[in-house]
Amino acid sequence: MNKFYVTTPIYYVNDIPHVGHAYTTIAADILARYNRLKGREVFFLTGTDEHGQKVEKAAKEKGRTPQEHADLMVENFKTLWKKLNISNDAFIRTTDSEHKKIVQAMLQRLWDKGEIEKRAYSGWYCMPDERFWTESEVVNGNCPDCGRPVEHIEEENYFFLMSKYKDGLMKYIKDNPFYIMPETRKNEVLGFLKNNVLGDLCISRPKSRLSWGIPLPFDDNFVTYVWFDALLNYYSATKYLAKDSNKLRVTSNEKDLSLVTCHSSLNWWPATHHLIGKDILTTHCVYWSTMLMALELPLPKNIFAHGWWTVEGKKMSKSLGNVIDPNEMVEKYGADAFRYFLFREVPFGLDGDFSEEALIKRTNTDLANDLGNLLSRTLTMIEKYRGGKIPDAVDSKDREHLERRIKAWFDPSTTCISISYDDFMRQLQFHHALAQLWKIINETNEYIAAAVPWKETDEGILSNTLYTLAESLRLIAVYLYPFMPDTANKIWRQVGVDRPIDEFSLKEMGNWGGLKSGTKIQKTEQLFPRIELKKM
Ligand code: ME8
Repeated sequence: MNKFYVTTPIYYVNDIPHVGHAYTTIAADILARYNRLKGREVFFLTGTDEHGQKVEKAAKEKGRTPQEHADLMVENFKTLWKKLNISNDAFIRTTDSEHKKIVQAMLQRLWDKGEIEKRAYSGWYCMPDERFWTESEVVNGNCPDCGRPVEHIEEENYFFLMSKYKDGLMKYIKDNPFYIMPETRKNEVLGFLKNNVLGDLCISRPKSRLSWGIPLPFDDNFVTYVWFDALLNYYSATKYLAKDSNKLRVTSNEKDLSLVTCHSSLNWWPATHHLIGKDILTTHCVYWSTMLMALELPLPKNIFAHGWWTVEGKKMSKSLGNVIDPNEMVEKYGADAFRYFLFREVPFGLDGDFSEEALIKRTNTDLANDLGNLLSRTLTMIEKYRGGKIPDAVDSKDREHLERRIKAWFDPSTTCISISYDDFMRQLQFHHALAQLWKIINETNEYIAAAVPWKETDEGILSNTLYTLAESLRLIAVYLYPFMPDTANKIWRQVGVDRPIDEFSLKEMGNWGGLKSGTKIQKTEQLFPRIELKKM
């Protein structure tokens, strides 16, 4: 079975989504859409992380119960994903009763296997990060990660015996070069494992201190550490939210854990890609990987940690008032321009700096000039010279040239150019894939300049040129679709295709010659009107 399972982190509901959350989710959407075009069975999962101290505290500040708070806040994510055209197949909430059952079953399995132990513990706790630090790690009474004050806590807790998996994990990472990407992140994880003593992981919180969590099945006085609960979402979703999964029976008996052994007819685990930000590299590459090893479940094929967006060189923060609201970006510039900018501007994996000025520049040059003008010039000429109908394509050298070039860029089997759009997409090098596409757009613009259709006196050659342009645009739209789904469909409609792109597979629509002569074009709105910089 040709399956493709992609996930985003599940986001905390203590706050509203910003450009960083949108970034990871759009990246997953690009992969999901592209793999659906390739004819794969896709499962694209996103969701929200709703337990833990952060959420409990945020709810308290607003005078709500944590559940009320989560129920309200989750809508901000769901609404934004609609605005951004996110095509997720499922949305998991860690407060789903099925998820809670599976987490408990997994805890029980580890407890029964002797992978969890109860110990007295004292350490320095960082509440915002929800994690303990040792004496030597604390910097002047502050968290070494976020710089905020830590508090000293002494209590009994349950520990997942993570340390014993250190060597196995290092070997696994070395043996599977694509397990952690990009390479720099892989080296960072290996360096961390090599240079540190890997401790055991405290996976419980006493209910007296934190009640907002999933109770441990073997000790009701404790709830599960939020990360243990959250990471398991990637697995639990495959059991009750995935297509064709046999829905779990939710019984009133919370201890009825037999459900977890139920198998969906399509087994979605392991994931193909976990997309995350570099901030949660350790939790995924170390905690999650070792948890899976202890549970004797396969590890995901890949964890890809992308870079960090700053704004004018500064970390986004409420206190600086520089948090970029994706809703506002969509309202001002449209979902597609925003999506394009994020993935064209910065290589996926590296850090980037967000500025509206850069977004406007990209929109004006790449979208309004290069792409928008190509479409409007082509349609205007077809209207003027061929009464608004796609002309007959007669073979000619010109056409063959562009056709060959387009095939070469997209299809590795027909080309001497070794790296194609598909290679870039498989390596998650989105900016290269887009650059590839823009080379074609620009070559097609150059083709107009060289063919000078408005001076052409041979009707056959003119028909050929116009057909070639419209057909190039049809194909450009296909490859644009994962990044800019609305724009791609608009291009299709305007060149006269009356069905949406996602009704076809690449095999059906990716070859030259798909446009039928005689089809009426539908020249309507400009794709991207130029934006005046002063509008900002
Ligand atoms: O960490 N630049 O949730 P979270 C790029 N619930 N990406 C950014 C970003 C930025 N400035 N800010 C946030 C959590 N992100 C946990 C995850 S998963 C089992 C549990 C993105 O709401 C990026 O993907 O803090 C990062 O990893 C994620 O949001 C953190 O979201």
